[in-house]
Amino acid sequence: MNSPKPHFLVIFGASGDLTKRKLIPALFELCEQKLLPENFAVLGVSRTELSDAAFREKMKEFLPVSSQNGPCVERFLDLLFYQSLETSNASDYQNLKTRLEKLGNQLSIPANYIFYLSTPPQLYQVIPQILAEAGLNDVSMGFKRIIIEKPFGTDLASAKELNRKLLTFYTEDQLYRIDHYLGKETVQNMLVTRFSNGIFEPIWNQNFIHHVEITSAETLGVEDRGGYYDHSGALRDMVQNHLMQLVGLIAMEPPVVIEANAIRNEMLKVFQSLRPLQKEDIATHVFRGQYTQSHIGNDLVKGYREENGVDPMSKTETFVALKFFIDNFRWAGVPIYIRTGKKLPTRVTEVVIYFKTTPHHLFQYDSVNEPVNNQLVLRIQPDEGVLLKLGMKVPGAGFRVQTMNMDFHYKELSDSYLPSAYSRLLLDCMHGDATLYSRSDAVEKAWEYVQPILDGWQNNPDIPIYGYPAGTWGPENVDRLVENSIWRRPCKNLAHDGEYCEL
Ligand code: BG6
Repeated sequence: MNSPKPHFLVIFGASGDLTKRKLIPALFELCEQKLLPENFAVLGVSRTELSDAAFREKMKEFLPVSSQNGPCVERFLDLLFYQSLETSNASDYQNLKTRLEKLGNQLSIPANYIFYLSTPPQLYQVIPQILAEAGLNDVSMGFKRIIIEKPFGTDLASAKELNRKLLTFYTEDQLYRIDHYLGKETVQNMLVTRFSNGIFEPIWNQNFIHHVEITSAETLGVEDRGGYYDHSGALRDMVQNHLMQLVGLIAMEPPVVIEANAIRNEMLKVFQSLRPLQKEDIATHVFRGQYTQSHIGNDLVKGYREENGVDPMSKTETFVALKFFIDNFRWAGVPIYIRTGKKLPTRVTEVVIYFKTTPHHLFQYDSVNEPVNNQLVLRIQPDEGVLLKLGMKVPGAGFRVQTMNMDFHYKELSDSYLPSAYSRLLLDCMHGDATLYSRSDAVEKAWEYVQPILDGWQNNPDIPIYGYPAGTWGPENVDRLVENSIWRRPCKNLAHDGEYCEL
C-alpha cells in the first residue's frame, strides 16, 4: 500500500485520556509498522503550557517501550510537537496557523492537516468553526480533515444541529466521525464472511434465518466515568452507535464496490428500514436494567448508584436489551435482539445468526430433545473467531443427534499483523478513505430509531428499570423478550457456552 501524503495530525485535547491511552499508542504502532508518511508530524494542542520536550516526555510513558524498540521510540518521539491553545480564543488559532506554517517549512510538510477533536463534545461546534474562521478549512493548499469522536449529539435534535453546524464550514468528505467498532478487524471480517463466501449469501435472509442476537457484554462498571455515564446510559453509549453499526454490516445488501459511499449507502438503507418503535412497544420491546451491589467471589462489588459521580437515585440504564425488525425483503419478520450491559459475567461482543431448523425432524436430538438450530457465531472479542454449531450423530446405536462446534480462531493466524482499531482508522483517514467512518445521514437515522425509546423512558416513569446483581446476565425478565429461545450465555472462550463461564 502507498504511504499517505505528507501531513500534520493536530490533536486537540492532547493532554486528555484518549490521546494517551489510544491515539499515541496507535500512532506509535503505525510508526513501527512503517506506515506513516516520510514527512509527518503530530502537533498536540491543549490549554496547558508545555514545551515540545515536556510533551514528548509525557507521551513516552504511554508507549510500550522495550529493550528492542529503543530507536523506534526515539524516532517516534521526534515526530511530536506541542502548542498551547485556549479553545475559545480566536487569536490562539492564528498562533496555531503560524506554528503549522513554520513547522511545515522546517519539516517540508505541505498544508495538509488532519484535526483530531479528542475533546469534550461541547467543543465539537466551537473548534471547527474557529478553525474555519482562521482559514484552516481552506483546501486550496492541501487537504483539511476533521476527526470527531462520539457522541455525535445526545439525541436526534442535537445530532442534527451538530451536523448542520459542521456542514456550514466543511463538506461531508472532510468529516470523519470515528466509531472505533468499525476499526476492529473482526467487525470488518463480517463483511468478508458474508460477501466472499458463496455458501452464506444464498441463505442470509428470512427464508433461512430464524433470528439474530447481538451481545456486547462488559465486566467493567462505569469506573471513573460516572459523571459522563449517568447522563448517557447504555442506549446512547453503545446501542445508537457501535451496535447499530454491527446491525448495518450484518443486514446490508452487498455493496456494488468496496468504496466509502457504496458501503455507507447500504448501511443507511438498513437504518431507513428499521421498523419504528411505537409508544406502546417501548415497555414490551425494550428492557432496561441497572447493576446493584453484589458479591463476586469474595469481593463486595458496588452497585451503580454507589459509583462516583452517579446520582444515588439514578434511573440511568447500565443494561439494555431490545427486540426489533428490519422491514425489507431480506429481513421481513426476522426478530433481531440486542443486549449490552456493564458488570456482566464476562467481556464478550458477538453476533449470533440462528438458522431455522429442518422442516421435518427425523432424529432424536440431544438432552434438551430439541431439533438443531444451526448457529453461526461471529465473535468480535475476545477469542476472536467464527463458530458454527452443527448437528452430528452420536456414535453408537440408533440416530441420536448432538450439537457440535466447528470453530476458527483468529489467533491461529498469529504471524499476521492485526492492527488496533485506532491505528487502522487513523491510517484510513490519512489516506482519505472514509469507508469505516460514519456519515451524517446514517448517524441521524440511528438517532431517529432510538429517540422514541429515550422519549418513552423520559415521559413514562412507570416503565420499570430492573436491578440486576453485578456479575449476572442482566435482569431476570429479559428472557421474556426472546420467544421460543433463550439468550446464548457466551464465555471468554468462543467454543464454550452455558450458564457458568470462566471469568
Ligand atoms: C465506548 C463506551 O465507546 O465503548 C464505553 O463509551 C465502552 O462505555 C466501550 O466501555 C466499549 O468498547 P470495547 O472496544 O471495549 O468493546
